[in-house]
Amino acid sequence: MTAVLSRLDGRLLTDFWHLVAHRAELAEPGAWLRLDWPGGDLALFNDEGEILAFDNVCPHRGARYFTGDHGVGRVVCAYHGWAYRAGQLRVAQRASFDEAELAGLGLRRFRTAWCGDFLFVGLAPVESLEAQLGEAFADLERASRRITTRRDFNAFTFQANWRVGVENALEGYHVNPIHPQTLAPLGLVDDRIDYQGRNIGYLARIGQARTAKGLSVMKRFFEVDDAYEGYWSLYVFPFAMVSSTFGYSYALQTYFPSALPNQAHFCSRLLTSRVKPGAETAVEGFFESSAQVNRRIFEEDHAICARVSPAYDMMRPGRVFARAEERVRRLHAILTDLNG
Ligand code: FES
Ligand SMILES: [Fe+2]
Repeated sequence: MTAVLSRLDGRLLTDFWHLVAHRAELAEPGAWLRLDWPGGDLALFNDEGEILAFDNVCPHRGARYFTGDHGVGRVVCAYHGWAYRAGQLRVAQRASFDEAELAGLGLRRFRTAWCGDFLFVGLAPVESLEAQLGEAFADLERASRRITTRRDFNAFTFQANWRVGVENALEGYHVNPIHPQTLAPLGLVDDRIDYQGRNIGYLARIGQARTAKGLSVMKRFFEVDDAYEGYWSLYVFPFAMVSSTFGYSYALQTYFPSALPNQAHFCSRLLTSRVKPGAETAVEGFFESSAQVNRRIFEEDHAICARVSPAYDMMRPGRVFARAEERVRRLHAILTDLNG
């Protein structure tokens, strides 16, 4: 199925590491997570302490091991009972097979690498994760250490090309018209853009004084002393985005290309940070409303992205960008260069 991706998308998928999860999501033995991505679905699984990434397809006759988004369980195929445990494929009624034919069979595993507690998966990455992330590695690692729990998981088929979604996530120009009730009230004011290899860091102050004050006083509930006191985001090239306000919680979004044109596999997660002992109840409402507001923001983003014409050529030269779209301009340059 990978073959129907554009040449560039296929290359992005194959040549780069992809941020796919946080360690907290796979903390216990048997914990699993399933993500749609080009060519099928990606399974992440805690196999007695080892985190595996593999194609979620049974090598016998192709049934999927996991359905749904996440859970805790075993890798057992519902069709004829083939299982995988402790690094071993377990064939049901093994004696009824020709042993020689079973010899080469196994899960189709992918490479994994960690940046702190963030998990990356690679098909055939051309460089190490450290090299790919460059200076972004340290930022991302620090963020990953603050996170303790997944709070919300929201996956759906995005009705636009992945790049429409990523470009949208990289600019604040649309915030007032598209997010008047949700994001606009923060009054974000650009602070700094950090180009870190192909990754793009972004910092913005909370311009709305009352909101900034309200967020600031919540610091006493969290162990996030060194986090930026404002809005921070990091575009993790090519398909992921991590963002946070004050480091209290992190939104992780992935926009994987789809084998179908003008669709993408979107997944958004709310990951919450370490809370001071005794403050759990105090932050409960804050986390709940963050999850709800985030979902609304992504619905708003999705609605406008779905409106971008599939006929609009994102690669065409001469695209124009506002100053507030500086990061989109950068991505356009990077992808034009890679495509060349
Ligand atoms: S398809 Fe999985 S055991 Fe047969
Ligand atoms: Fe948006």
